[in-house]
Amino acid sequence: MTSTQIRQSFLDFFKSKQHTLVQSSSLMPDSPGLLFTNAGMNQFVPIFLNQKKPDVSKWAGAVPGLDTRAADTQKCIRAGGKHNDLDDVGLDTYHHTFFEMLGNWSFGDYFKREAIDWAWELVIEVWKFPPQRLYATVYNPDKSKNDPSDFDQEAWNFWAEKFRAVGLDPAVHIVNGNKKDNFWMMGETGPCGPCSELHVDLTPNGDTRGALVNKGDARCIEIWNLVFIQFTANPDGTFSPLPAKHVDTGMGFERVTSIIQGTKGFTDFANARISNYETDIFRPIFDELEKLSGKKYGSTLPAKQFPKPLITSAACRTSSIRGRNTWSASPPASGSNFPKPRARLCSRACSLGTNSAATRCMPRVSCLITFIFFSSRRSKSRTAKASRSSGRSPS
Ligand code: GLY
Repeated sequence: MTSTQIRQSFLDFFKSKQHTLVQSSSLMPDSPGLLFTNAGMNQFVPIFLNQKKPDVSKWAGAVPGLDTRAADTQKCIRAGGKHNDLDDVGLDTYHHTFFEMLGNWSFGDYFKREAIDWAWELVIEVWKFPPQRLYATVYNPDKSKNDPSDFDQEAWNFWAEKFRAVGLDPAVHIVNGNKKDNFWMMGETGPCGPCSELHVDLTPNGDTRGALVNKGDARCIEIWNLVFIQFTANPDGTFSPLPAKHVDTGMGFERVTSIIQGTKGFTDFANARISNYETDIFRPIFDELEKLSGKKYGSTLPAKQFPKPLITSAACRTSSIRGRNTWSASPPASGSNFPKPRARLCSRACSLGTNSAATRCMPRVSCLITFIFFSSRRSKSRTAKASRSSGRSPS
């Protein structure tokens, strides 16, 4: 499948489950406390917090379904604040400053049962991921640390039914996770709740029995996070229950594409090249760079000690965004932990109109700089082979 087909099949699937398809919101967030839009759920915060009735079918550009269900593909940037992937970008095969998050939402409508049923149906029955390579994580709080909520037995039971139905042992395929990995918060405050993630074993034999889940290893990566929103986090660190329970999911579009394409539709894990950069999302960019630079992209990643490509690739992708974003000069809030050089670059990207000649030009130029930088460092980068395969944990 092409990436376009993958995205469309996600949207078609949730449309068939009566979801309203909405547009991606702007990368400039409405929610206070966010530097950029960092998740598909951002635009629904007022609905989760009961400040606004669900009315998504009336939203501009919506393909109407139920008002209490939505799905979309959301442009996201995780370059600061609670979800900051910037230090992973360019150093592994599956983190990006800018990425697309496929998601489905329930606003006080369905909850864990349907969210898990449909995740399984799409991933296993429609896309045909091999179930024996799949691992689900569930929230297991450490009460000695005062972690919120309880062990998510309900999610465990629903996943267990799925694994048992295909002859797999839930005790192997369901992995408990702590607050860091399995309690999702948009930021320090706002809607939050326990979550269940789907991870895929990408090793040649797919026989790691969950040992690589959440170990920051590129051979087993998270593809989908199902959040069961039930609380709002308060500024004083406490959690208040919300009047209704909601579902908020986020799937890594580039990651799913890399697995489907890198394994030739799950037919070859032994010789797989599973990297987001080896997909039809990135390949056309590298083709262009090769033409512009006269150099070949060698599928290598830089060593951790050469951070400059991170900065240029961040600028490259942020400045490539088209669509209905209203970019304005909006430097990061004072006191944010956004590193200054990167802040300057992102600020620079923000200050350019999306359709200006400068913006159109910037991706090509910054990609070219990145590519030349990568190429010139390639020999040294070989020493970083280990870092390439080790990766980091998804956020
Ligand atoms: N809101 C779910 C996620 O970003 O993972």
